[in-house]
This record gives sequence, C-alpha cells and structure tokens, in this order.
Amino acid sequence: MSIPEVPDVSGLVTEVLLTAGQIQTTVRDLGARISADYAGRELSLVSILKGGTFFLVDLARAIEVPVTIDFFGISSYGADRHSGVVRITKDLDESIEGRDVLLVEDIVDTGLTLGYIRRALEARGPASLRTCVLFDRPYRRIVDLPVEYRGLELPDLFVVGYGLDWQQKYRNLPYVGVLNPELYDPSRTRMPWQA
Ligand code: IMP
Repeated sequence: MSIPEVPDVSGLVTEVLLTAGQIQTTVRDLGARISADYAGRELSLVSILKGGTFFLVDLARAIEVPVTIDFFGISSYGADRHSGVVRITKDLDESIEGRDVLLVEDIVDTGLTLGYIRRALEARGPASLRTCVLFDRPYRRIVDLPVEYRGLELPDLFVVGYGLDWQQKYRNLPYVGVLNPELYDPSRTRMPWQA
C-alpha cells in the first residue's frame, strides 16, 4: 500500500500496514458485537491515556447502547519495564462500582499494562469487566489475561498511527504504518517502547 503524502512521514514510515478504511471497518464490527452483547444495558467505557483515546472515540460512536466514557492515566514503566508496575497519573472521574465496564485499549502486547489496569479496576467492584483491544500481538504475551473483544493481530513490527506513538508523536496518523527499523535497534532484542 502506498504511503499517503500528507502528513509527510518520509523516512519515518516505510509501509502502510492498515489503511484508515480497514481500521474503521474493524472498529464498526467490534461496535456491532458489543452493541448486541450489551443490548438493553448501559456500558461504562474506560480508556487508557493517551493511545487508547483514538480508538475509544471511534468505538463509542459505533456502539448503540448508552455509554459513559472515562479515562485512566498511567505513566510508562519505570526503570524495569517488565515489572508490570505502572504509576497512576490520572484516576477515573466516576465510580465504576456495580457498573458494566469495558476497558478499551489500542494494543495489547506483553499484557503487563492491561494486566495491571484490569486488577486495579476489578478491585473497585464493577458488576462486570471486559476488555476490548483494537490490536493484539498474542505471541508476545507475558501476562495471561482475558480479551473478550479483539480487532486485528499485528506482526512483530513497531507501528505508529491511530493512537500509537513514536516518541509521543504520530498518534494522529489515520492509518497504521511500520516505523522505519533504522530508527531503532535493528536486532530488536528490545522493542522501541521498551528502550
Ligand atoms: P504491553 O504492556 O506490553 O501489553 O504494551 C502495551 C503498550 O505498549 C501499549 O499501550 C503501547 O503504548 C505500547 N506499544 C506496544 N506496541 C506498540 C507499537 O507497535 N507502537 C507503539 N506503541 C506500542
């Protein structure tokens, strides 16, 4: 797939992995499944800042039952990125006790981030808690966790766009592109977000 010229990502993105259209189709399919499963109920959507917000906004518009939205902010891992320990930088505004909660995240890789957040949310006594991810790399999982709604499986390549960043930038690309491997450790013993 050719790379759109605007915005200019020459030297940065080597290939378009998923077009904006493919992503939107997947989001609509997920929204339809969620709408059917929660018919007649209300749903609290909880997203993780910052990457998950792009997906949350599109997914919320594809869901037909009444939803509320809230955000959980966490810092990236500390010195040991495999500890699974993250710092809460923004707590939820509303209580989720007794509510049907859907945790919405852009990507699950090792599962450390989502595993931590699921535990934190479960401790608050929701009536139910499910997880919806747009992208998944199941073969890289360290922490086993239930993912009830899953969009697309991604290859073991660092990607940017649709919420996913490189050094906090390029989240706003409407497609998902492969980041030029020359920009990070080509041996890929560590992925860029673990640097
Ligand atoms: P996990 O904790 O290993 O499951 O990693 C999930 C987090 O890693 C996501 O929330 C993203 O912030 C980040 N991440 C994983 N893969 C990518 C990628 O390909 N590009 C950008 N960020 C990524």
